[in-house]
Formats: sequence, C-alpha cells, structure tokens
Amino acid sequence: MSQERTTLIAGNWKMNGGLDEVDGLAGDLAGRMTGLTAAPGFEMAVCPPFPLLPMVASAIEESGIALGAQDCHGNEKGAHTGDVSAKLLAQVGCAYVIVGHSERRTDHGETDEQVRAKAEAAQAAGMAAIVCVGETEAERDAGRATEVVVGQVVGSVPEGATAENLVVAYEPVWAIGTGKTATPQDAQDMHAAIRASLADRFGGDTAAGIRILYGGSMKPGNAAELLALADVDGGLIGGASLVADDFWAIGQAAG
Ligand code: 13P
Repeated sequence: MSQERTTLIAGNWKMNGGLDEVDGLAGDLAGRMTGLTAAPGFEMAVCPPFPLLPMVASAIEESGIALGAQDCHGNEKGAHTGDVSAKLLAQVGCAYVIVGHSERRTDHGETDEQVRAKAEAAQAAGMAAIVCVGETEAERDAGRATEVVVGQVVGSVPEGATAENLVVAYEPVWAIGTGKTATPQDAQDMHAAIRASLADRFGGDTAAGIRILYGGSMKPGNAAELLALADVDGGLIGGASLVADDFWAIGQAAG
C-alpha cells in the first residue's frame, strides 16, 4: 500500500441481507466509525442489494462510510426491465458501483464490452466504477492467469480512467467464497501486472493513484498480510463483510 492511495475496504453483500441489516450491520458499522477518536486511516464502503440502498444511505449518513451498488446498466435509461440506471444509483447516494463481478460474468454472461459500458455509465453519473477481474482455477493451472486478467482489464476499463473514477478489484474466481486465498506473492505479482497495464494506457502517474483491491476469502486472519502488499490498496469482501466484527477487524488491519 502506497502513501498516496487511501486503502478502501468495501463490503459486497451480494444477494444477502434484509431489513434487519440496515440498522444491525450498516448502523453498527456507522456507530463504530463515528465513535473513532482519530481518523480511521482507511475508507469503508458497503454495497447492499438495490432495495436497501436508500435505507442504508440513511443508516450511514455522516459516518464517513461510502455507499456502493453491485451493478448498473450500461445505458443511461430506457426499456430495460429489471435493470437500474447509474444515474438513479447516484441519486440515492452511491459513490461506487461494482461492475463485472465474476458472479455476473458467469450468471448473466456479461462480456468485457458490457462491463466497460457499465463502468462508463457509472463514471458518467459521477461515481467510481469498481471493475472486477479475475482468472478461474483452470486458467491459473494452465499458466494463463496474468494474460486473462490483464486482458479483462484492457477490455473492461473505459478510456479516461482517473484515480477518482476507477477502482480495480482483482478477485481470483477460485478464491471467492472458498476459503482459499492467493498467496501474498501471487497477489502482489497480479496487482503489479494490473498497474503496469493501467500505466501503459493512462500513464504512470494516473496508474499510481488508482486503487487495486484484492477480493477472495479475505478475512480478519489474512487481511493484514494482504493489505501490507505494495500494490494491494484494499479489499472487496464478501462473506466477512456480513459480520460487523469481522468487517471492522479487516478495516482495523488496514488502518
Ligand atoms: P468472499 O469474500 O466471500 O470470498 O467474496 C469475495 C467477493 O466476491 C467480493 O466481491
């Protein structure tokens, strides 16, 4: 982690959480954040399911915790039943939108091109896109992990990326929800490859400011080691973000 990038600890609730989590989880975290006597030393974000966004926005108001959504449509508006526009997400208080999560790439067949359009839409609405990339176990075993991930970065990250409008999340598919994590060396190598690819396109200064998160079975017991890596600028956390004590402990490991 570099001095110039503020560590981002983002919780992806996925299709979990209900009304109880508004006060129970988001409210709990907000209380801990506002109770701090010194600056936290990291930024925290929570990304609940769509219907909870306005309620969670109220629960975390003035706590410094940022709100994020888990997806948006690539178009500004229109006849897209079941989809949500980036503009609406910004209106209800989102600062971030996760796009291209591997679960969406798999469950909904999202391509790099679609992910890029979603990221562009999020950025055009004034939010930062958290663009997710990651290789499968078969791709890693075949020695293709870097090629696959850098290819996804090139394909999914729109032109005009800045430190303000882009976050990249490296989430090896085989590490998500499995309890397996990348080794520190593998994580650092991949994050460095992602940053080098961003530098090729956007210049070294811009790339040096863009945060690259690690995701995949991050928990209190392994967070400090991963977050200490030079090019790991935070975490995108699934399961452990649903337990206030665990998510908070990950934040503490970053601060
Ligand atoms: P887990 O932390 O549950 O492995 O999920 C990671 C993830 O997919 C976050 O987006």
